[in-house]
Amino acid sequence: MSVVDFLMRALNRVPPRVLQAAEKTLKAVPGMDARMEREYAHMLRELEPALKPYAHAFAAYAQLPPTGMDRALILDEMEQLNARERAKWQDGFVSGAVYHGDAAHIDFLNRVYALNSQSNPLHADVFPSTTKYEAEIVAMTAHLLGAQASDEIVGTVSSGGTESILLAMKTYRDAAREQKGITAPEIIAPVTAHAAFDKAAQYFNLKRVHIPIRDDMRADVDAARRAITRNTIAIVGSAPQFPHGVVDPIQELSELAREHDIGFHTDACLGGFVLPFAEKLGYPVPPFDFRLPGVTSMSADTHKYGYAAKGTSVVLYRGRALRHYQYYTATDWSGGLYFSPTFAGSRPGALSAAAWAAMVSIGEAGYLEATRQILETATKIKKSIREISALRILGEPLWVISFTSDTLNIYQVLEQMTKRGWSLNGLHKPSAIHIALTLRHTSPGIAERFANDLRDAVTYVQAHPQDKGAMAPVYGLAANLPLRGVVSDLLKRYMDVLYQVD
Ligand SMILES: Cc1ncc(COP(=O)(O)O)c(C=O)c1O
Repeated sequence: MSVVDFLMRALNRVPPRVLQAAEKTLKAVPGMDARMEREYAHMLRELEPALKPYAHAFAAYAQLPPTGMDRALILDEMEQLNARERAKWQDGFVSGAVYHGDAAHIDFLNRVYALNSQSNPLHADVFPSTTKYEAEIVAMTAHLLGAQASDEIVGTVSSGGTESILLAMKTYRDAAREQKGITAPEIIAPVTAHAAFDKAAQYFNLKRVHIPIRDDMRADVDAARRAITRNTIAIVGSAPQFPHGVVDPIQELSELAREHDIGFHTDACLGGFVLPFAEKLGYPVPPFDFRLPGVTSMSADTHKYGYAAKGTSVVLYRGRALRHYQYYTATDWSGGLYFSPTFAGSRPGALSAAAWAAMVSIGEAGYLEATRQILETATKIKKSIREISALRILGEPLWVISFTSDTLNIYQVLEQMTKRGWSLNGLHKPSAIHIALTLRHTSPGIAERFANDLRDAVTYVQAHPQDKGAMAPVYGLAANLPLRGVVSDLLKRYMDVLYQVD
């Protein structure tokens, strides 16, 4: 039995406080660090072939080539790499990741990118076209998300969902410091809110207060009420949350925030460009946007279901005054007057141009149709999961669907799906799998292929419970190992492998 296995099994049921103490003690055991190092190295070696499929097959550069390579050769090599990777996402085997993926749409966005590749919104005087695109992206998104004529819903374009969330949390921190003198800020977020909120807490010195979810996987409003203190600067809810695709009780949570005069952020990174259309199509969509008076900020990702190229998102605020806390200005710098609305300085204006082009080329009717197709596919997929008695769907999701098993190791099912070509997400707490459906899954036959493969995968796991495979133990480890420091170390080493030149 490996050290990690041993730890996992022995310590699985011990309370967290005891474990934290144990973790410290373990580190103090002579030789333990070296044993853990060997264990990490062993696990990563097993993962390496999957992470580095091109090792030895293509030239690798750890320093600049002495003379420039021929452009045609570079393009040829990239085409080979691209060809190896394309089928998996194009043929609908991947959860999320590529949300549109239609060849004509991609070609169009690539043309837009090429036209604007030199643009940088930092130089608004040189590239006023990009500022026009960005202002309109923000306005169109605000309109979609319930901004009324009487509201002043404003925002900025960011590089992605994580940046939008980081920006909103920094904004609340700075607003609360100035307006209320809060120096030990706290944010209240359900355990299912995206990891970006934890990242914000780590980066900006906020205390993230986790609140639990209920059996329906939605945030517990009573727990949120109990968690509010004098230092609370914002409450967070998701529409929908990433793990199980369910929409938190945004109405109740945002009212709670309003009663206490604190901010409320709806994370609609996933749902911002789906839920408004789902509502129009008559699906049950609980209120989640600026139509609720307590919602003071939102994030919505153009680069997901907005069908833009990767690298843009929108963060919105109720009122310019709040947005001002996001902005950065430097008035004393020897480089002159400097200001930037988001974290980056220079930014890829071409991506904003592409996001704008995606939005106006698809239009209301296009988004409505895309949503209709995705939700109809989701209905088929949910039905096929419900037909497998060993599986259970968590909560009542619309199109990001998670499922678990009360009788099987769900990570073995995940592994069997991987063997059948699928790239799904492993979740934990509770252990589950999810698939975020995109337009890629709406092509004929894909929902049926998913259903057949899932049935086969479950049948295989039922017949071979001992066949753990390579990844299932890693997921199992991440899900169950209570020593979070050990898991965190492992993930850091994983990232080291990604940056290793073969
Ligand atoms: C609900 C939610 N919020 C935030 C994010 C973070 O978005 P990004 O990966 O673009 O930073 C995601 C990503 O999947 C998400 O699902």
